[in-house]
Amino acid sequence: MLEGKKIVLGVCGSIAAYKSATLVRLLVKAGADVKVVTTAGANTFITPLTLATLSKNPVLTEYVKDDNGEWNNHVDLGLWADAIIIAPATANTIGKMANGLCDNLLTAVYLSAKCPVYIAPAMDLDMWKHQSTQQNVDALKSFGNIFIQPGYGELASGLIGEGRMAEPEDIISFVEADIKKKLPLVNIKALVTAGPTYEAIDPVRFIGNHSSGKMGFAIADELAKLGADVTLVSGPSSQQTKSKAIKRINITSAADMLTACEQYFVSADICVMSAAVADYTPVDVAQQKIKKKEDTFNIELKKTTDILKTFGSQKRVGQLLVGFALETNDEEKNAVDKLKNKNLDFIVLNSLNDAGAGFKTDTNKITIIDRRLQKTVFDLKTKEAAATDICQKILELMTL
Ligand code: CTP
Repeated sequence: MLEGKKIVLGVCGSIAAYKSATLVRLLVKAGADVKVVTTAGANTFITPLTLATLSKNPVLTEYVKDDNGEWNNHVDLGLWADAIIIAPATANTIGKMANGLCDNLLTAVYLSAKCPVYIAPAMDLDMWKHQSTQQNVDALKSFGNIFIQPGYGELASGLIGEGRMAEPEDIISFVEADIKKKLPLVNIKALVTAGPTYEAIDPVRFIGNHSSGKMGFAIADELAKLGADVTLVSGPSSQQTKSKAIKRINITSAADMLTACEQYFVSADICVMSAAVADYTPVDVAQQKIKKKEDTFNIELKKTTDILKTFGSQKRVGQLLVGFALETNDEEKNAVDKLKNKNLDFIVLNSLNDAGAGFKTDTNKITIIDRRLQKTVFDLKTKEAAATDICQKILELMTL
């Protein structure tokens, strides 16, 4: 969930600041880009060098960077962030935030931000219980800020009670769960196919195609980014998914792909079949390597099952089915025929006549045609950007 997310981590002057090092490490490990902003007080508890080393970014504390008058732009930082986490948040900083005071960089970044703000308080139990603090907490909650409740236990004062900052692992889980629950495809299951299939001729040879799998992998990643629970059934491909949450199933042949997909189709809400599945497979697979003998050689082929068409005929109400058409001629007509024959919600057309489209390239030029025959032609763009367009169409149809 935190993959590629830009996070400002605010650290205040509390003994719990030592846990910020672990927090930074976990955020970075989860794939986030972390910029740490500390208060002057925080720097007495944990060195900026530690946090800068772990975050791989300079730690910012002051408005002014150096004697040359260069400044740390709090507005840019606030707008850069996808999320702000303030951990530990002291009673002092909570009080300033609740009242719009900004006498340091961290509170100025907070006031400039438009993103979700997560606050993990850390203080002594009586300070936490104090009416002033609780009033400030209520005010901040009413502004939409999200509190990560402090835990119960032994405090730096030696007293036992509520006020311990939540553990870094719990802060990460909390933020991830909160981000996930707000995503548009949360609780939605998606099945994506990608890559080529290889149809064995003998133990060393196969019939295949040039599909790299890039488009399907980009779609799987985009759906995961939108919160879907994604299963990716992929033919032989060197691609890797960015999201670790995607369940990847590697298959070789068209028959394997069908078997794998059948397991997930019934429960899938969205199916995007972008694989370049072989249309024919050898009738017999030689058990031994075929030896070179005659001048000509024939292989008898039989049709494979059209996975997309099969699913189109079994589609239940509410299930969204998306297919691809890679064409060299009569592109739109062929795509519309496939859309209708396979009972799709929309089809993504690529034409090999468009430079930069099709197999192996990092770019694609797509046209989306839906079942109302509404056509949208997109510019040539990266496969990731094309995946975003395809997923936007999915979102549009799901909200209809
Ligand atoms: N497809 C599939 N199973 C197959 C063949 C194709 O699921 N055995 C899917 C592809 O993943 C793609 C769509 O069907 O989403 C169209 O594939 P394509 O090869 O362009 O079309 P075909 O229907 O096979 O027709 P043709 O090869 O004759 O153009």
